[in-house]
Amino acid sequence: MDIINKIKELKKAKNAIILTHCYQNIEIDEVSDFVGDSLYLSKMAAQTNADIIIFAGVYFMAQSAKLLSPNKKVLMPNINAGCEMADMITVEKLKKLKEKYPNLPVVCYINSTAEVKALCDVCCTSSNAVDVIKNLNAEKIIFVPDNYLGKFVESKLDNTEIITFDGCCPIHQKITVEDIKKARIDYPKAVVLAHPECNQEVVKASDFVGSTKQIMDFVLNTDYKQYVIATEKGVVDRLNRDSKNNNWDKEFILINENIICPDMKKNTLQDILQVLETEENEITLDDEVIETGRKCIDKMFELTK
Ligand code: 13P
Ligand code: SF4
Repeated sequence: MDIINKIKELKKAKNAIILTHCYQNIEIDEVSDFVGDSLYLSKMAAQTNADIIIFAGVYFMAQSAKLLSPNKKVLMPNINAGCEMADMITVEKLKKLKEKYPNLPVVCYINSTAEVKALCDVCCTSSNAVDVIKNLNAEKIIFVPDNYLGKFVESKLDNTEIITFDGCCPIHQKITVEDIKKARIDYPKAVVLAHPECNQEVVKASDFVGSTKQIMDFVLNTDYKQYVIATEKGVVDRLNRDSKNNNWDKEFILINENIICPDMKKNTLQDILQVLETEENEITLDDEVIETGRKCIDKMFELTK
């Protein structure tokens, strides 16, 4: 039996589901129950009746699934798949920032560890960051760890000052305004779409800025022939696959061939089969972290109901 069928069979036997982030290696989609961005996957993790969740993504995403489904077994195909941005904000650094700006609401990007979430009031994803912060109705907040997403949200709101931590995604950081200028010469009729983790110059030079889901929705609701995509390669691979399978007659071009998150690509089909067999790489969290970290995610759902 081939590896795909082995995984499918074992998944059924163990009542397991596979949640897959759209930056993963595309062949993982074939064995996945749900593929999407971090907001969609956290909703799926909260709703599932499965006994085992295999999270094909990075560490903070699997931790979020555990926060939302603490009684389920959450496994990672490769336990070393981390997120460099999430690791920039440590509990110690966050405590210092809170001491420097006491009494301000603290919002964290979902790209943060469960231990950091446990010290924050609410979290958000790139899909709902503007709504979450707007609905907090605060004059001033602390936002960690992504400086660029924080600045992007601040530019969308009239009455909220955002103190941002100096973190960023080293992968999106590689996208430059020169890449966009070059793309405009190479593909003069294309529209340029960027993720808000890109730096402010790139954001300003793009035609549309949105999360993974918002970029995918933009594509479905518009009629361009070419789209230059300023985010991770996995999104481009999926859009080109869907275009081919559905005869969209649309082409998707990655802004710069180096926009690949090496951590996201650590998970393989072989790893998935192995954790299904052995149930290793389990995510565990302290009860206290589960209780307070979960409140931080629940508050995000509450503010965006
Ligand atoms: P999404 O919230 O769009 O899934 O992005 C997660 C991420 O890691 C972006 O770099
Ligand atoms: Fe983290 Fe950036 Fe990779 Fe997303 S692309 S998982 S933010 S390092």
